[in-house]
Amino acid sequence: DRSISLAVIPGDGIGPEVVAQGLKVLRAVLPQDAKLETREYDLGAKRWHATGETLPDDEMEQIAGHDAILLGAIGDPGVPSGVLERGMLLKLRFAFDHFVNLRPSKLYPNTDSPLAGRPDIDFVVVREGTEGPYVGNGGSIRKGTAQEIANEVSVNTAYGVERVVRDAYERAQARPRRKLTLVHKNNVLVHAGHLWKDTFDRIGREYPEVSTDYLHVDAATIFLVSDPARFDVIVTDNLFGDIITDLAAAVSGGIGLAASGNINPTRQFPSMFEPVHGSAPDIAGTGTADPTATVLSVALLLRHLGLGEQADRIDAAVTADLAERGSAAARTTDEIGDALAARVAG
Ligand code: IPM
Ligand code: MN
Repeated sequence: DRSISLAVIPGDGIGPEVVAQGLKVLRAVLPQDAKLETREYDLGAKRWHATGETLPDDEMEQIAGHDAILLGAIGDPGVPSGVLERGMLLKLRFAFDHFVNLRPSKLYPNTDSPLAGRPDIDFVVVREGTEGPYVGNGGSIRKGTAQEIANEVSVNTAYGVERVVRDAYERAQARPRRKLTLVHKNNVLVHAGHLWKDTFDRIGREYPEVSTDYLHVDAATIFLVSDPARFDVIVTDNLFGDIITDLAAAVSGGIGLAASGNINPTRQFPSMFEPVHGSAPDIAGTGTADPTATVLSVALLLRHLGLGEQADRIDAAVTADLAERGSAAARTTDEIGDALAARVAG
């Protein structure tokens, strides 16, 4: 049926401002007979300052009952580093098994990208989302002394690597260029690197139409700047993916346009969609945040839920809006949301 039950986590700073626009566009694009139910969850820095809570178990269970999650941004400078990242964001990604962290990069017209005018930058990074150095498998001995040893172990399982690599092949197979690049560092990280490379090669035999390529992550950063058009789909581990997707966002129009989906393709748990940017407390309340990344995240959400036609309409609206926006025509958060809502509705 055509009803969507959505958990909304507006969060902090500009989070609530951009989420309001994302919901506005979502309501405008949905077919008449589709029912949208939203429920807001008050999570993030404000909540933590007030109660010391990050994400209590009962709320976790309630969120698990929705079809999908829309997240704005969380955090402010008053929360110690790691508290909300581990206690909320990563907790959701891990508990809901979001093993595909999908981050498309497309060069839209009229952006202030350093690569503006370069043709055909349109690739997607499939970042592994549940393993690698993010698992918290680490520790410190002789902490605080001159002899301290701090370990942060990257965990890579055959199961975890295979499922994300397979997902990336499927995505590459479905795109016109059918090209998949594995990014790792297997000349140094030989254990994890070989698991990734062997899995990549083995699964690749099932996808003879997909051409493949391997790059060390350092070399990949060069090509992301010097020749990003060479990429179609990139698959990589959690930490490399974190780093190269910020770089990818910077070269393809800025972090204000970068969307992401934390996806559980099995649909056993709700997937979560969020702009790549943070809560930007410096501009919160000024009405100047660009809601486009959130709106594009809503498009990823719709595509995940099987509403590809609506997702296409959002993508087209963003392209048209940016083509007309021009650098002189600075608009407020609300105005951009209104313009996009009008385009997808009409
Ligand atoms: C991101 C962020 C997060 C990450 C942080 C906030 C934990 O940088 O979504 O890219 O490292 O994954
Ligand atoms: Mn990041």
